Amino acid sequence: MQTDFSTWTTSKLTHIEQVLSQTIPDQHTLPHKLHEAMRYSVLGGGKRVRALLCYASAELCNTEDAVADAGASAVELIHAYSLVHDDMPCMDDDDLRRGKPSCHKQYDDATALLVGDALQSLAFDVLSKPGLCKDPMQQIGMLSTLAKASGSYGMAGGQAIDLDSIGKPLTQQALEIMHARKTGALIEAATLLGASAGSREQITAIQTYARKIGLAFQVIDDILDVEADTQTLGKTAGKDAGSNKPTYVSILGLARAKELAHDLYEVAIAAIYPYGEGSLRLRELATYITQRAF
Ligand code: IPE
Ligand code: IPE
Ligand code: MG
Ligand code: MG
Ligand code: MG
Repeated sequence: MQTDFSTWTTSKLTHIEQVLSQTIPDQHTLPHKLHEAMRYSVLGGGKRVRALLCYASAELCNTEDAVADAGASAVELIHAYSLVHDDMPCMDDDDLRRGKPSCHKQYDDATALLVGDALQSLAFDVLSKPGLCKDPMQQIGMLSTLAKASGSYGMAGGQAIDLDSIGKPLTQQALEIMHARKTGALIEAATLLGASAGSREQITAIQTYARKIGLAFQVIDDILDVEADTQTLGKTAGKDAGSNKPTYVSILGLARAKELAHDLYEVAIAAIYPYGEGSLRLRELATYITQRAF
C-alpha cells in the first residue's frame, strides 16, 4: 500500500530542498553576491515539478536514490537558470518570479546573467560526480541527455524561437515545436534521468508520457497566464497577451486549449498505464500538472 500523493510529494519536496541547499555554495564563500543570488533564485520557491517527475520515474525504474537525486537537482538547477534569464529585460522583462522580485530586480542584470551561467555549470558538475553511476556509460548518457535538453535543440533553442515569434501568428505545428523545446525538453530530461536504470521498454513508455505531459505543462502555463491572477501565480499574469506572444490560448482559444491539455493527459497516462502501481506517481503527477491552479 503506497502513501497518498500529498504525503509522497511533501517528503520529496523537503528532500530536494535539502539536496539543492547542500549543492549550491554557501553565500559566505566568495563571491558572496553571486552565491547569495544563486541561492535566492533556486531555494524556497517553485513547484519542483521536474524533480518530482524524476523521482516518480526513478520509482518505476528502480533507479538508485543517489542517481535520482543528481538527476532531480541537475534539472531543477537548469530550470532555475532558465527562469532567471527568461525574466531579464532582454527576454520577457518580468519583475516577479516565485512571489519575489526576479533575480535581476533583486540584484542586477550582470548578476542575473552570471547566476544563470553558474547554475548551468553546477548542474553538469552534479551529474559528472565521479562514481555516481556504476556504469560510466550510463553517467555519460545522463550528461548527454541534460546537455541536449538544455541546448539549442532544447530549452535554449525553444527560447530563441519564442523570442523570434513575438507578434507572429504561428501555426499550431510551429507552436508545438516551440513549446516542445522550450519546456518539453527539460521535462522529458527530468523523467529520462530518473529512468536511468530502466529497461528499454520502460524508457520508451516514459518518453512518450513525458513528451505529452511536457507539452501539456506549457499549454496549462499559457492558460494560467490568462485565467489566474498575479498573486496566485507568483509571476505577472497576462504577460503573454501584453507581450504579443503566440500561445495555445491566442491560437486555439481557451476552450480548445483546455481540450488539448486533456487529450495530451490521456495519451500520457495510456503510455505508462501497463506499469500499474509502479507508474502511480507518474499518473498522479500528470493529473497535478493538468489540473494545477498555479
Ligand atoms: C515556469 O515553470 C516556466 C515554464 C517552463 C512554463 P514552472 O511553472 O515549473 O515554474 P516553478 O519552478 O514552479 O516556479
Ligand atoms: C518559459 O516560458 C520557458 C522557459 C524555458 C523558462 P514562459 O516565459 O511562458 O515562462 P513564465 O510564464 O515566464 O514562467
Ligand atoms: Mg518566456
Ligand atoms: Mg516568461
Ligand atoms: Mg508563461
